[in-house]
Amino acid sequence: MAEKWTPESWRSKTIVQVPEYPDQEALADVEHRLSTYPPLVFAGEARKLKAQLAEVAEGRGFLLQGGDCAESFAEHHADHIRDFFRVFLQMAVVLTYAASQPVVKVGRIAGQFAKPRSSNIEKQGDLELPSYRGDIINDIAFTPESRIPDPNRQVMAYRQSAATLNLLRAFAQGGFANLDHVHRWMLGFVKDSPQNHRYQVLADRISEALSFMRACGIDPDSAPQLRSTDFFTSHEALLLGYEQALTRVDSTSGDWYATSGHMIWIGDRTRQPDHAHVEFFRGIKNPIGLKCGPSLKPDGLLELIDILNPDNEAGRLTLICRFGADKVFEHLPGLVRAVEREGKKVVWSCDPMHGNTITANAYKTRPFERILKEVEAFFAVHRAEGTHAGGIHVEMTGKNVTECTGGARALTADDLADRYHTHCDPRLNAEQALELAFLIAENLKKERDERGAEREAASA
Ligand code: TRP
Ligand code: MN
Repeated sequence: MAEKWTPESWRSKTIVQVPEYPDQEALADVEHRLSTYPPLVFAGEARKLKAQLAEVAEGRGFLLQGGDCAESFAEHHADHIRDFFRVFLQMAVVLTYAASQPVVKVGRIAGQFAKPRSSNIEKQGDLELPSYRGDIINDIAFTPESRIPDPNRQVMAYRQSAATLNLLRAFAQGGFANLDHVHRWMLGFVKDSPQNHRYQVLADRISEALSFMRACGIDPDSAPQLRSTDFFTSHEALLLGYEQALTRVDSTSGDWYATSGHMIWIGDRTRQPDHAHVEFFRGIKNPIGLKCGPSLKPDGLLELIDILNPDNEAGRLTLICRFGADKVFEHLPGLVRAVEREGKKVVWSCDPMHGNTITANAYKTRPFERILKEVEAFFAVHRAEGTHAGGIHVEMTGKNVTECTGGARALTADDLADRYHTHCDPRLNAEQALELAFLIAENLKKERDERGAEREAASA
């Protein structure tokens, strides 16, 4: 029988990837203060997202999840958020159109501040310092003072998340996402790109469909579905003290919810079944994600599913697979078969970023071809197993950065120095993100056609 869960029961478990704060009193003070602040999201919204994800788990929708690897305090600008949201809407529209299915929109934003690191120290020349762990913990500057964990940064992260979420809600509900504006989401610097033409063609078709519907008496004024969208937030819930402070009882259901974001996920480095992160996650009712890397075996996955989703509730658990382009066929089929055999309800999502990181010219980068290859392999496995390729999880930005090589403009390793701005991992730029959306759209069409063919064969 499971032990009793409380918002702080994780504290008695082994924990990895969290910092040692030198001033414990200051930390306790900040955590207390945060626990008195308003929640960032409302439990009813998290339930709504869970219901949408349940549809995806049943094969009737697609999850689009993306955003910066790490948000930063220095880059908290309205145009940054707006440009991200534009590309995200473009991707969503491409996918909705191709799949003729709803796309569940989840940003990796408004809380994505804490980073797990492969090493506790960073060395430059002869100097060794503690690693940068995300702006919610310490500062990226390579000086001894900057790298000291500062609890006050948690309050800054909370306030930045609130402001970002506020703008995103306004965009999603206030008119920016109106389908009548489908042509306006094209970003200036993407206009002369190869993706532009493809998008233009699709946007024209949507406009035409909207004109037809308008003539029939349905338009964005009469149908709110056409003028707004549901947009949700998510982040890796790594810093459990912060998460605990924002974990609240929902008065309508009596259940505990993490209110730092709608969906939170467990990283590949912190998913040990007997450790603190899994303990924290099992007690909150939000939809959650679990990153699945090459070291996760089918039995290990089933054990985690039993802890994290004992009632086998569809929409509760999204498995975010990140193997690396060459390892998908080796690892994914075994996991899919185990989950199918046991009848577990999950959303299968593909993170094609984290297994494909290499170093070129001293820059951490990701070849776009390998990202596409991992996505193709993910879809191929699900087609072969007869399961639904349910979603994608990407690190992306609306900025015209040069962080991942390849893509339609064939960025090379020498181009990386031009506009390499990420605080952590290399992100897809707007063009690459859109190109990826078109590739996924083709695969979703294939899945749809195959299912249609199966249905016909069955009824013949
Ligand atoms: N409300 C629908 C949805 O979110 C349609 C829609 C409105 C939409 N604006 C959008 C879809 C922007 C994609 C992008 O799916
Ligand atoms: Mn990352």
